[in-house]
This record gives sequence, C-alpha cells and structure tokens, in this order.
Amino acid sequence: MDERANVAPPLPSIARLASISLYLALLAAWVATAGSLYMSEVLGWIPCLWCWYQRVAMYPLAVVLAAGLIARDRNTPRYALVLAVPGILASTYHILLQKVPALAQFESCRVGVPCSVDYLNWLGFITVPMLAWVAFAIVIAGSVFALRANRVVAEDYLREGPVFGFSPAFSVVMTVAAVVALFVLGGVMTSQRAAAAQSRATLPTPAASLAASASRDEALHIYNQSCIGCHGPANASMIWVRPEFLRSRSDLELLAFMRAGRAANAPDNFSGQAMPANGGRVDLTDAQLLALIQLLREVKQ
Ligand code: HEC
Repeated sequence: MDERANVAPPLPSIARLASISLYLALLAAWVATAGSLYMSEVLGWIPCLWCWYQRVAMYPLAVVLAAGLIARDRNTPRYALVLAVPGILASTYHILLQKVPALAQFESCRVGVPCSVDYLNWLGFITVPMLAWVAFAIVIAGSVFALRANRVVAEDYLREGPVFGFSPAFSVVMTVAAVVALFVLGGVMTSQRAAAAQSRATLPTPAASLAASASRDEALHIYNQSCIGCHGPANASMIWVRPEFLRSRSDLELLAFMRAGRAANAPDNFSGQAMPANGGRVDLTDAQLLALIQLLREVKQ
C-alpha cells in the first residue's frame, strides 16, 4: 500500500490564514481589555454608560476567543460575532454622540459621567470609543474570514489538522499565563492605588503641598480632563459646587475634602451622587489639587 495515502495533504493556505486571523482577533480583544482596565484602574478615569456597554461586549471576547481557539471549536467565529457586532454598534453610537453636537441632546446617560465628553483626545480627534471600534472591527474581520475559510476547508482538516496554528498544550499554557498575568497586574494596580490614597490621607503637610505649586493653566487642563465630565465647564454655570461651601472652608479643608471625596450616602451629600476621591484621579498631587481649588474659587464665586 502506498505510504503516502496515510499522510494528510498539506493544509490549504487559507486554513493557515484563518488561524492567524482568529489569533489577531484574540490579540485585539486582549489589548482592548487591558487598555480599558488601565484607563479605569490606573489612570482613574470613570467609565460612562456607553463605555460600560462596550466593555460588556469586549471583556467576554477576550475569554471566548481564547477558549474557542484552545478547543478548536469551529463555531468560535460565530460566538465572537454575537459579541462584536453589538459592540461595534455601541462604539459607533458613542462616537456619534461625541462628534455630532446635535445628537448629544439625546444622550441617554445624564447621570454620572457624560458620554459626550472624552478623557482622551489624541491628535485632536482620536477618542476611546474609536479605539474600541477598531478592536471590534478587527474581531469581526478576523471572524468573518475564519468562517469563510471553514467553509472551504474539508472536514478532515478541521478534525485532524492543526487548523488553529499552535498546539493545544501551548495555547492552554499561554492563555492561563495571560489570565494569571492580568490578575496579578490588576492586584498590583489596586494595591498601588490604595497605598497612594492612604499616603495622601495620612500626610496633610501644607509645606510640602505648597512647595511645588501648580499653575492655573495646569489646573484648567486637569479640570477639563477630569472634572468637566461631572461638573460642566469651568465657569459660573458649574454644577454640584456650592459657592458657600467654598467660601466657608480654608484651602486645607477643601484639600482634605478633595482627597476624601463624598459618598452618595454621606450625611452631607446633597445631590445623591458620589464625588469620587480626588475627583477620580489618584495621581493628582496636593499642589495640583490646591491649584484646582483656586480655580474653583475664582470661577464659582
Ligand atoms: C464622577 C463625577 C465627578 C467627578 C469626576 C468630579 N466630581 Fe466633584 N462632585 C461630584 C458630585 C456628584 C458632587 C456633589 C456631592 C454632593 O452632593 O454632596 C461633587 C462635589 C464637589 C465639590 C464640593 C461641592 C460642594 O458644594 O459640596 C468640589 C469642591 C468638587 N466636587 C470638585 C471636583 C474637582 C476639582 C474635580 C476634578 C478633579 C471633581 N470634583 C470631579 C461629582 C464629581
């Protein structure tokens, strides 16, 4: 009998490409998940409502694609599309909210952080939902390509051949390592934030605070990055900041308030909404907070 009859013919190149396309989709989902966690957990940016809808679609993709690739499940691209198509629709709507002023009035997220303001504005137009849109687009393109390839490739290859490129053992090890790394990273980030918050809470040193003073321009820049989302523009129309609250307190008392924030259920809360510690920005120094306080005093007499 001919030896070669038992040897499978070489895998069609489309199958190899299909495997790469799903790995690219997985990479896009992982980068987007890690980036989104970095923005909220390290930079302290508070996600808005539509940011959450996109997270709901993106985070499971990071796991579903990996699990599907390990199991060599032919339906992996289908599972991915079920998540990525609503995801890209949410990103599209969110981008429109930010870029089309007329749409901002239909904003469905009036409570908390407004969706029409973005923390990030690279090159003057690239915002967070645009990055999410690109990640969803890569997942969709990769999945559609893999689906088409599945149709072309014979059943034999899918059952026998290494259609998805790497060996299952390697994929399992890599995925477990990545998930463990994400958890360790998350733990380190959280403990760093807690340590930073604590050192700020236990070190009310006015001399050190004032040693390096921040300018009004810097304060305005920080305000427009981090406070404007909840408080509105830095002028007399600013909401949730009472002039009498500012007047009746010293700079250091206001600094202490800024460090601590105010829980939604605190006895002195008047809006029913929380003011996050440091306005949600653990990285702000005392000098920057004091400059912000001067700015508030100036515009909100
Ligand atoms: C997630 C939304 C949010 C962000 C971001 C935020 N704040 Fe607030 N802030 C609030 C809310 C809500 C209140 C009102 C709390 C209450 O009802 O007692 C408040 C209250 C305050 C007050 C006290 C006002 C008063 O009359 O008691 C100051 C001062 C203040 N914020 C400054 C800032 C600064 C400066 C920043 C940016 C570094 C910032 N906030 C970021 C939501 C926010």
